[in-house]
Amino acid sequence: MEPSKKYLFEYKGYYFGVETTPEYVASLEDFEIYDSDIFITTYPKSGTVWTQNILSLIIHEGHRNGTENMETMDRVPWLEYNLKQRDYTKLPLPRVLATHLPYYLVPRDLKNKRGRVIYVTRNPKDVMVSYYHFSKFMKTLEEIPDFNLFMERFLAGKVLGSSWFDHVAGWYSHAEDFNILFLTYEEMKKDLRSAVLKICNFVGKKLSEEEVDSVVRQATFENMRKDPRANYENLPDEWVSKDKGRFLRKGTVGDWKNTMTVAQSERFDEVFKEKIKTLPIKFVWDTDEM
Ligand code: A3P
Repeated sequence: MEPSKKYLFEYKGYYFGVETTPEYVASLEDFEIYDSDIFITTYPKSGTVWTQNILSLIIHEGHRNGTENMETMDRVPWLEYNLKQRDYTKLPLPRVLATHLPYYLVPRDLKNKRGRVIYVTRNPKDVMVSYYHFSKFMKTLEEIPDFNLFMERFLAGKVLGSSWFDHVAGWYSHAEDFNILFLTYEEMKKDLRSAVLKICNFVGKKLSEEEVDSVVRQATFENMRKDPRANYENLPDEWVSKDKGRFLRKGTVGDWKNTMTVAQSERFDEVFKEKIKTLPIKFVWDTDEM
C-alpha cells in the first residue's frame, strides 16, 4: 500500500510530511552552517524531543533555572519543517536544530565537518510501536489503525522518515564525514547523567555538578511530562488529537512486547536480521539487557 499523498511526498528517495516542500528541502543543501551549530538528528520516535530538551537545559541557563518560559520547539526548531517561517540566521548562538534528514540530504557544510551532529538511535521495535501510537495522535500523519498494516508500511519504509534501517545505516556508515556523537535511547534511559555529560563534552559546555544534576532532574520522563515547555502540550488542535495520546507516551525500553505478537516480532526479525548485523551498534531490546 502506497502512502497517501495527502500526508507525504517523496524527495530523492525519502518521505517528508507535506508541512514542508521539495523546493525548501532542496535549498537546505546550501544552508549556511556555523561552526558552533548543533544538529539533533534522529529517525522519528527515537528520542528527539528528549534530546531537544536536554540540549535546551544544557545551553540555556534561563531554561535550566526556569526563568525563561520558551517551548522546546522554539528553542530547538526543525530544520526541514520551518513551520513558523523563521529566519534561522537570527537564532541565538549556538544554534540547535532538530532534523530527521538522511545523511545525504543535509546541508553541504555539515559534511565538511562544520558544526556538530548528535545522532540518537533506538531499538527499532520500540520505534515502530511508538510510531504506531503517534500516528493516531498526530493529525498530520496518516493513521493506520491495523497494527499489522502499519508494520508492513514501516518495514517497507513507506512512512515519514522512510526506512528506519536506511536512515540508521546511512548515518553510521558516513560517520567519518561528520563531527558526530552517537547516542542511544537505551543508554540515555539507563544512565541519563552519563549521557548528559557526554553531550556537554561534545558541545564544549562546562556545567557545575549542581547544574548537571538540574539538567538530569528536568530531563527525566516524569518531570518532562509535567513541564509544558518540554512536553509539546501546546500544539494546535489542527495538528494533534489530544484525546488520542501525547508526545511523552510511555518512555520505556521494551514496550514493543505489549503490542507485537510473537509472530509479528518474528516477521520483523526476519526482515531486519541480516541488515541489523551490519550496523555497528548492539541494540538493547528490553530492560533485562540493560
Ligand atoms: P514512547 O512512544 O515509546 O513513549 P521522538 O521525540 O523522537 O518523537 O520520540 C518519542 C519517544 O521518546 C516517545 O516514546 C516518548 O515517550 C519518548 N520520550 C520523550 N521524552 C522522554 C524522556 N524524558 N525519557 C524517556 N523517553 C522519552
